[in-house]
This record gives sequence, C-alpha cells and structure tokens, in this order.
Amino acid sequence: MSEYRRLFAEARDDAETFWARAAEKLLWRKRWRAVLDDSDAPFYRWFAGGELNTCENAVDRHVREGHGEQPAILYDSPLAGAQRTVTYAELQTETARLAGALAQRGIGRGDAVVIYMAMTPEAVFAMLACARLGAVHSVVFGGFGAKELAARIDDAGAKIVLASSCGLEPGRIVNYKKLLDEALQISECKPEHCIILRREQMPGEMTPGRDEDWNEATAKAPEAECAAVAATDPLYILYTSGTTGKPKGIVRDNGGHAAALLWTMKNIYDVAPGEVYWAASDIGWVVGHSYIVYAPLLNRNTTVLYEGKPVGTPDAGAFWRVMAEHGVVSMFTAPTALRAIKKEDPEGKLPRKHNLSKLRSQFLAGERSDPDTIEWLEKHLRVPVIDHWWQTETGWAIAANPLGIGRFPVKAGSATVPMPGFDLRALGENGEAIPPGELGNLAVKLPLPPGTFPEIWRGRERMREEYLSRYEGYYLTGDSGMIDADGYVHIMSRIDDVINVAAHRLSTGQMEEVLTSHPDVAEAAVFGVADELKGELPLGLVVLNSGVARAGGEICEELVALVRKEIGAVAAFKKVAVVKRLPKTRSGKILRKTMRKLANGEESPAPATMDDPAILPEIAQALAELGHGKREK
Ligand code: COA
Ligand code: AMP
Repeated sequence: MSEYRRLFAEARDDAETFWARAAEKLLWRKRWRAVLDDSDAPFYRWFAGGELNTCENAVDRHVREGHGEQPAILYDSPLAGAQRTVTYAELQTETARLAGALAQRGIGRGDAVVIYMAMTPEAVFAMLACARLGAVHSVVFGGFGAKELAARIDDAGAKIVLASSCGLEPGRIVNYKKLLDEALQISECKPEHCIILRREQMPGEMTPGRDEDWNEATAKAPEAECAAVAATDPLYILYTSGTTGKPKGIVRDNGGHAAALLWTMKNIYDVAPGEVYWAASDIGWVVGHSYIVYAPLLNRNTTVLYEGKPVGTPDAGAFWRVMAEHGVVSMFTAPTALRAIKKEDPEGKLPRKHNLSKLRSQFLAGERSDPDTIEWLEKHLRVPVIDHWWQTETGWAIAANPLGIGRFPVKAGSATVPMPGFDLRALGENGEAIPPGELGNLAVKLPLPPGTFPEIWRGRERMREEYLSRYEGYYLTGDSGMIDADGYVHIMSRIDDVINVAAHRLSTGQMEEVLTSHPDVAEAAVFGVADELKGELPLGLVVLNSGVARAGGEICEELVALVRKEIGAVAAFKKVAVVKRLPKTRSGKILRKTMRKLANGEESPAPATMDDPAILPEIAQALAELGHGKREK
C-alpha cells in the first residue's frame, strides 16, 4: 500500500516525471518535446512532439526481440466450433498484409476506417493494421443495427469499412453484411471500398465494385511498414452513449494511450510479459479495445479472444474451461456475466471440474459489482476478486485495487482507490468538497492522465459542455458516489440519463427519440428498472396521439421492433406500455426518477413539484402489467 501511496503522490505532484518514466518503456521514433502540453488547457496533450507507432510497440518490437513464436492471440470460439493460435510473428505478417491492402486502397495517416466485425482474430488484425498506417479505426459493436452503424460511418467520415459477413449468437446467425448494406444506403458518407471477411456460416452477398473478399485483398498485398505517427495523433474513435441520440466519438491518442496501458498491466493487473491474460468482453467496447487488444499486446502477453457466452456455449462452465485450457493468470469480465453463471450453478460445482491453479486474480467492471456475486466468486475461485471502475472516456481504471503496487483489503461494493493520475474528488452542486462518506458528483482534477480522451471527434465544444464546464478545472465523470474515510471509492449511480444494461452503456434519451418517431406516439419516457441478471433493463411508457384507435398492444409490439431495428438488439428493449399521461413537474419536466422508483417498488412520495399526483395509480397499474412495482401480498 505504501508503494501505491508513493506513486499516487508522485503522479499528482510531479506528473511529468511519473509518466515520462512509463513512456520510456516504449519504442519511440522521436522523443517528445513536452511530456504534458498544457498550452491549450483545459484540453491537454501528452508527449507532444513525440513520434511512435502503436502497432510496432504491440507487435513488431516483440518479434524483433526474439518472441515471434510466442502465441499472441488464442482464439477460442465455442460458437464457431473453432480454435486458432496466432503467434506474434504471424500477427505481424497478417497485420502488415492487411495494412498493405488498406494502403493500396488509399488509406494513410489520419484516414478513418470503420470496423464492424465479430470476435475473430481478423478483427484484431484490422485494428492493428490501422494503427500500423497511422489510420484511425472506429470499431462498431455487432449488436448495433444499421442506423447506428450509418451514424458512426458518417460521423467518423469512414473511407473504408472492414466487416465480417456475419456474427454468431446462440441459436442464430446475425447477418452483418446485410446490416452493412442497409447502413451504406442511408449513410451520407459512402466509403469506396468494403473488405469483407466471408465467414463460412453466412458468406453474404457481395456488391460488385465496392465489396472485396478479405482473403483475396490481403493475399496479393505487399507488407506495409509501421509509419511514424505523432504521439498526439488519434489512434481510434469509439462511440459511446450520451444523453442525446447522437453518439459521442471518444478519441484516443497514440502515445499517452500506449504508455498508460502498458503501465496498467504490471501495476494494476500484476501480469508479466509472456503470461496468458483474458478479458471476456467484445472488441466493440472499450474493455475490448484496452484489454483484449492493446494492453496485453503492448505488454507481450498472450491474449484470449473468446467468441462465446458465459452460459449456453455450451454451459455455465465455459469460462472455467477457457481459463484452465489456456492457463489464464488474470481474467476480466462484467458482473452480469457472472450473475448469469451463478444463476445456473449456484453451488459452484463447475469451477471445481477445471484446473484453475494458474489463475491469480479476477477483475470486474462495467457496472456496480453486487456483494453477493463477489462473495460467490471468492468462495469458488479462491483468488482476489477486484471490482474496478472506468469508462469509455478514460480508457483505463479510474479506481481499482492495484495488485502490482499494494493490494488493499476488499470492501464489497467499492471499486477501492483512485489510480495514480486520477485526482478524484466528490463535489457538491456548487463545487464544494463533499465530506468523506457522503454522496457527491465524482470529478477528476485536470489534467486527466495519459490514455484518457483528449477530445470528442469533431466535438470540442461538446466536450467542454458535457465534461469540463460543470466544475472549472475538473472532468465530470457522470457518476455519483462517495469517497469514504479510508479513501475507498463507492460508485452509486449515473447523474445523467444513461443506463447500464448487462454492462452495456445505453442512452434512454436515444430510445425516447426512436419511440417518438413512431407515427402514433406523442410522448415517451424511458428509464432503467432493476433486473437481477442484467443490472438494469430499459422500460418505456408512451402516450399516443389523440384519435389513435389502434390497440395499444399492437403499437407496443411495433415499438419493440422499432428500437431493435433503429438501435439494435443490444438495447434489450422489450418492455413498453401505453399510458394516458406521463407524470411531470408543473414546468413540464418528465419525472423519470419517480417512475423508476415506482417500477422498482421503492417507497417514494410524489414530488412536491409534481403537476398532478392523481395519475400515479394509472402509471403503477401499467408498470404492474409489465411485471414491475409493488406486488400485492
Ligand atoms: N452481435 C450481434 N448481436 C449481439 C451481439 C453481437 N456481438 N452481442 C449481443 N447481441 C444481441 C444478443 O443476441 C441479444 O439478442 P436477443 O435480444 O435476440 O436475445 C441482445 O443483443 C442483447 O444481448 P445481451 O445484453 O448481451 O444479452 P444476452 O441475453 O445475449 O446475454 C449475458 C446475457 C449476461 C450473458 C451477456 O449480457 C453478457 O455476457 N454480458 C457481458 C457483457 C460484457 O462483457 N460487457 C462488456 C463490458 S466489460
Ligand atoms: P462504459 O463507458 O460503457 O464503459 O460505461 C461506463 C459507466 O459504467 C461508468 O460511468 C459507470 O456508470 C459504469 N461502471 C463502470 N464500471 C463500474 C464499476 N466498477 N462500478 C460501478 N459502475 C461502473
């Protein structure tokens, strides 16, 4: 713990020395001019003037240093019934060829490439090939539908799309190619080329002149070298949900990102080069970017790429099978996945069937970890179970239990302590410091450390408005919580309209926009209700236009289908009811919190500002019909 305290203090008081030391571990083409460039505060830049290549650091460097035969990727897909080992040498060749194919099609430094792919090794090649050229990738999660994909293609200004023909879900094949075609019909930006990985399960229809077969395109391509890229150049854009329907493109740079992620592997996860590390997430999320791809490869680990589910592929022992078979030393997943496992194997019989002797730690993030799940895991895995808190914006943990620099006793329900570089505070409405143990808005004193987001893609003002203007000199995390007397951080809830469904971050505002686009809907409110498995589920209440004579049930079915089509299956939007009016304040603000409390069966008197409390019984009735709210004994 004392090592942690020393490093935390150094990162706060002498950030330049601290982060320069971390960056020294990388291979630089040109040394930086300034570790921290604050000339444009509150927008900061790390390692300004420096040049490096992220792919070179994650792949080529290890091959050059004699580790070409070490497995870089262990692909394990119960859904495809396939396994494949990719060594660092193979990863270098595959990545260089794909980069060559991209370069032949005009892609170079700064060009945006959208990646819409399933969890196969080619998706990792795709990300690294962009990094190799200094192009900017934007991975879109496969669970998003055509409209969301189109919005990202447009906002990023994609010059090319790399896609899988399909994704595999239990019991169904998702036709990514068809979704891509639909997206390109509605997008304004029309990428000239699409390179398609035609999977045997559903190879997809090709559009002549635009679509090219992945294997053909790469077979003939020359191997591209790693370009020198400015440390401050964007490596990727990753879209995340905000309060409005318009997704936010979180930008990650090259230099700060590589330095910070490499630092975390030893200091937070306590994983040494050469060891096998597994993050059971998806490359479409930030956890996948940071801990399936970049951090383990920068640290010369073997990363497991798992195309399967925690349960049902084939059973609730799948995670333990993967850990045992591949010798995983540290694993990272979301609590929702473990709740799903625990539900099917409450007595923990399945972990005992596998040899988990190599496993040293289990990390959790993406949502609040409930103490029951932590206790169950500790009992059955017999390793430290570490909750840690982070966001797409930060790219790595704001708070964690840093195993490499001093392990803290676990307090269930807490993400432990702020990481070096994150000077975290709980602030009140007017920026006043909140005393230990009391609830406040969690904010980080600027500058944020390397590896976090320097900007929103084409959204500098949006960044200022949403994150930097609430408290001058601080980054507003969007989470409320408390820091207790021992310095432990407890995350309580979001302060905006973002909900967390199966550790996926979703915008209720965006769902409301989709609902009100239905011709029969006048008004809509969407809020999160508690769910045992997924943490939260979205629930919608809608008011129909006057004069609509159709049955409410039929309209609700259309609304469920509409959200699935417009946003995607990942929204998990299945519950909606028609009501006559929505509860509002006298000034017309919809009382989502009141409805959420009613739905969760919490005692909650009607707020004093409420316009007409007499409508609450009708709302309670609608919620009861959806299976929510107080049950009669
Ligand atoms: N491509 C296409 N569709 C996808 C998809 C993908 N990559 N991933 C999920 N979907 C679909 C699912 O098939 C499901 O569709 P359905 O409504 O037809 O059943 C829908 O999106 C919702 O998916 P999800 O919320 O993941 O629920 P699930 O019922 O499939 O699985 C869990 C439940 C708990 C097992 C699962 O949510 C899980 O493993 N979550 C872990 C989340 C995670 O790793 N998050 C990353 C942050 S660390
Ligand atoms: P995302 O950007 O999708 O990773 O979602 C980030 C949000 O997920 C955070 O702002 C939190 O609301 C929530 N979150 C992530 N990790 C945790 C955690 N360990 N405990 C509580 N909430 C978390």
